[in-house]
Amino acid sequence: MSETLTIIDNRTGKKFDIPIENESIRATDLRQIKVKEEEFGMLCYDPAFMNTASVKSRITYIDGDRGILEYRGYPIELLAEKSTSFLEVAYLLINGALPTPAQLDQWRSDIKRHTFVHENIKKLMAGFRHDANPMGMFISMIAALSTFYPDAKEIMDAPKRMKQIHRLIGKVTTIAAFAYTHSKGMPYVYPSDDLSYAGNFLTMMFKIGESKYRVNPVLEHALTVLFILHADHEQNCSTNTMRSIGSSHIDPYSAVAGAAAALWGPLHGGANEAVLRMLDEIGTVRNIPTVIKDVKEGRRKLMGFGHRVYKNYDPRAKVIKTLADEVFEVTGKNMKLEIALELERIALEDEYFVKRKLYPNVDFYSGLIYEAMGFPLDFFPVLFAIPRTAGWLAHWQEHILDPEQKIARPRQLYVGERGRSWVPLDKR
Ligand code: ACO
Repeated sequence: MSETLTIIDNRTGKKFDIPIENESIRATDLRQIKVKEEEFGMLCYDPAFMNTASVKSRITYIDGDRGILEYRGYPIELLAEKSTSFLEVAYLLINGALPTPAQLDQWRSDIKRHTFVHENIKKLMAGFRHDANPMGMFISMIAALSTFYPDAKEIMDAPKRMKQIHRLIGKVTTIAAFAYTHSKGMPYVYPSDDLSYAGNFLTMMFKIGESKYRVNPVLEHALTVLFILHADHEQNCSTNTMRSIGSSHIDPYSAVAGAAAALWGPLHGGANEAVLRMLDEIGTVRNIPTVIKDVKEGRRKLMGFGHRVYKNYDPRAKVIKTLADEVFEVTGKNMKLEIALELERIALEDEYFVKRKLYPNVDFYSGLIYEAMGFPLDFFPVLFAIPRTAGWLAHWQEHILDPEQKIARPRQLYVGERGRSWVPLDKR
């Protein structure tokens, strides 16, 4: 069997044999297809990258039709069940293999050494209004970190590159918690070395003024699992942004700030917040039929439903649903759960959703847990950005070390006017 694709250009009758590799063809191989020699050659038009692979990656595998998600070959359900720490999974994503006990100890200590932020970050934070959005603060503070670490520009120096990775994974929880305490007008709680990644974060968030505060182990475990589930998701909008910004060889703080901005949108990581606002607005199960009718008639979207890649139940949503029961045992049930379950039941039976293969995604239930744990709605995207930082960094590193990559620069199909004549202002 020949691993080629034969294309006949009916404009010229010419025939082209294009090599097939990994069930794909190289878009640049199409450039030889042209009518006149001076032409640029054939391009692929693919708005929203619906059918374009821009990288070869070894980090995360998704089979959206079968609802499979794997980090470095390990099924997400396995990692969520077996891994006891987020940092172990972060190591796996960045380094490609599960750590040995010695490697994990070293990794933990490297990251924990970097959880403190420069005191000037606090001064910068103080410049925000008391009601500033925490995700806006988070993005700005991550970008500001680049000014504190000029060595971060040396991205091809392996030890220096790894140091920025430690710093970023270490500092995102501190910056996130500071953004929260700032909004409360409360004193900042500094990181503690002896706690787990999730435990330290919960302590920095909620210890304020409570000297005897101890993290509830059920909530600590739940947040660890939520962090693991959100750590990576291959070439989504924010990861593509991370790779794209990183491809210009800027420092990783600037690139993570850009990726976090991409994550914030309601169609991406902002969806968990949008789900809760939607459930609030629905208010009672009695209103669900009207909502479903509005969705079907194109007046609104059901937030937390649908996914570009999953055309089956999002495997992360399954894990989260079980986790929700454990959390509600501690916190008491989130009253919106009843609405969410009924909405899901009706949607999964409805022809509109069945035909379009719209299933609940990771964000449909995560917000209910976050709210029950005491996080404010506008903080949800920050909770997504913390673990995703590990995924972004894994992709950033893979990208800048990939000899096939260059600065990201898509082509366009120009369909506007050309060669217009200047018309003086008083003649227009
Ligand atoms: N509610 C109602 N209808 C929907 C929804 C939804 N949530 N999502 C998609 N559809 C419909 C579309 O209207 C379209 O219908 P049509 O064929 O009649 O025009 C069809 O399903 C296909 O949808 P697309 O918009 O083509 O799917 P796309 O892959 O571009 O969008 C997205 C994926 C952005 C996630 C979309 O499903 C959506 O907006 N969902 C709600 C927001 C959300 O939950 N985002 C979180 C995603 S997960 C994450 O980022 C962590």
